[in-house]
Amino acid sequence: MASLATPADLKITPRNLRFGREERRDRWWLGGDPFATAFNNAMSITFPQGEAFFVETVRRFRDQVPPELAGQIDAFVRQEVHHTREHVAFNRQVSDAGYDTKAMEEWVRDRLAESRQQHPVAQLCVTVALEHFTAIFAHQMLTNPSLFAGASEEARRMWLWHAIEEVEHKAVAFDTYMHVTRGLKPTKRWAIRSLVFWRVSKNFVRGRTRDTLALLRQDGITGLRAWAGVLWYLIGKPGALRKVFPMWLSYFRPGFHPWDHDDRHLIAKAESELRLAAPETAKAAA
Ligand SMILES: [Fe+2]
Ligand SMILES: [Fe+2]
Repeated sequence: MASLATPADLKITPRNLRFGREERRDRWWLGGDPFATAFNNAMSITFPQGEAFFVETVRRFRDQVPPELAGQIDAFVRQEVHHTREHVAFNRQVSDAGYDTKAMEEWVRDRLAESRQQHPVAQLCVTVALEHFTAIFAHQMLTNPSLFAGASEEARRMWLWHAIEEVEHKAVAFDTYMHVTRGLKPTKRWAIRSLVFWRVSKNFVRGRTRDTLALLRQDGITGLRAWAGVLWYLIGKPGALRKVFPMWLSYFRPGFHPWDHDDRHLIAKAESELRLAAPETAKAAA
């Protein structure tokens, strides 16, 4: 299958929105389900530091890419900075609910410190891999809005807003990688991104499972009950990992491009369902 490219008419719109500062959420804010809550809390805990790394690793190449892609990098950076701000606020509420997240944050900091020792292109490649993760989870969230149906209103809006923008900018890091490695043989470019993706995937599954279990331990849910609940959530119902598996796998295809699958209709649908403010209005409210 021939690889596609980023649609020429793609618009990446930073929506500078704030969510749920005043909201008091239940400890198990996602439908009263400790497993769903713990998994999504574990994801959110990684975002502020992770997104700062994404911004740093992509922006570094801004002046080496064609003007159109440079413009997309600018929009990508603005979106990620907004996401970070909202997840910092979200994570503060997770701590306020009584969870100790310090060890998890330190783990993320240490992993990123290791990545920062690598060559800038290798660092970019880590971002490309993680952006594929965020894109496939975002796609899933927008395809099945029922996944967050049980969340508090502001939490649901925040996660869906984040998902919209992750889909929108899903190819920015990828296109940057493809541009800066254009002098390499296609097989080499493919091998590098596939190997990095495999390593990032192992760390992702291991890290997020461990953190989910650690959060559940703080709820007094341990041992077999904790494992069974987490595995059921990830692989059974709703199957957070099972459902993204085919899209995860597609990354290994030699001609892969994030826009092989044009899912912009999901953005339009979610935007109108959430009645997100138009960017002009949002800017005024910032
Ligand atoms: Fe993000
Ligand atoms: Fe992103």
